[in-house]
Amino acid sequence: MKRVLSGVQPTGDVHLGNYLGAFRGWVQEQSNCEALYCIVDLHALTVDYDPKELAERTLDMATYLIACGLDPQRCSIFVQSQVPQHTYLAWILECNASMGELSRMTQFKDKGKGNDSVKVGLFTYPVLMAADILIYNADLVPVGDDQRQHLELARNIAMRFNSKYGATFTVPQAQVPPLGARVMDLQDPTKKMSKSSSSPQGIILLSDDPATIDKKIKRAVTDNDSLVNYDPEHKPGISNLLELFSSASGQSIEQIQQNYTSYGPLKSDTAQAVIEMIAPIQERYNELVKDRKSVLDCLASGAEHATSIAGATIDQVASAIGLIRPDYI
Ligand code: AMP
Ligand code: TRP
Repeated sequence: MKRVLSGVQPTGDVHLGNYLGAFRGWVQEQSNCEALYCIVDLHALTVDYDPKELAERTLDMATYLIACGLDPQRCSIFVQSQVPQHTYLAWILECNASMGELSRMTQFKDKGKGNDSVKVGLFTYPVLMAADILIYNADLVPVGDDQRQHLELARNIAMRFNSKYGATFTVPQAQVPPLGARVMDLQDPTKKMSKSSSSPQGIILLSDDPATIDKKIKRAVTDNDSLVNYDPEHKPGISNLLELFSSASGQSIEQIQQNYTSYGPLKSDTAQAVIEMIAPIQERYNELVKDRKSVLDCLASGAEHATSIAGATIDQVASAIGLIRPDYI
């Protein structure tokens, strides 16, 4: 059975893009693969943050992952900082990565903007991500398009390490969702729906109530030719709604196009389909928040399982690179 690993930062409110672009796929994967899902709180330390908020968001993210359908009996959900082997391996990998290759990471270039006070951790972020993946010898890594370059780095580090010290790591493969899996901002459909969006009206949160979802979708920016046609390049707003409707209802885009001749009914029914898709998630979430201790317990058992795999990898890596272990002789 293939091993799949992915990670999500506990920052920002969980939105529809996270669900359709990531978590829904993770839920499917847990039945076909040995799945590990990591809430990467250490990655969230690379930019300014509020400690109390980080802890709350980490627990909240875990609650949402379970509410979305991840089943702690079938996959491991855990918090990165509870498995200290990640940072142990990250150091070793840092000693096998070059300044040059990290300097080419576009995310660092965008976020760092050449600013001298930017944290060193933001620069080495992709190496910690490589450690998250390689420590489990993951075969598959579902990631958004923006993480492709980081995954390529993880592959390069794995191959370099294997050729220098002998076969140690599985070289992971990225699993990038198809283009249609990108949910666009309702107010600016040329940009992806994102926690850093300038207008809250453009994003649908998993915590939005039905009236709010209805309002946001009805006010979604479209064009004014009134043609219900799927054409992401020329009609990004309507195409985004068609994709949303299709993802939420299971109907094909062609089928939906045939059923609608104007924007009003299309928007109402899209809103209804999204509301119905999210309702059971919200119901489970509301149940789970009443028992946060049980969510913490799931995280602890996830971390225990993850640690057993991570510890074995560290033993193998340590011997390969000349770090002495108690059973050396
Ligand atoms: P982020 O919150 O941006 O770190 O994203 C967490 C996960 O959700 C990543 O796997 C992203 O690829 C996915 N994701 C975020 N925004 C979108 C979006 N608008 N459409 C599809 N997937 C998304
Ligand atoms: N960098 C990823 C993001 O921002 C999160 C992440 C950290 C990750 N470690 C990972 C994703 C390991 C996949 C595998 O989305």
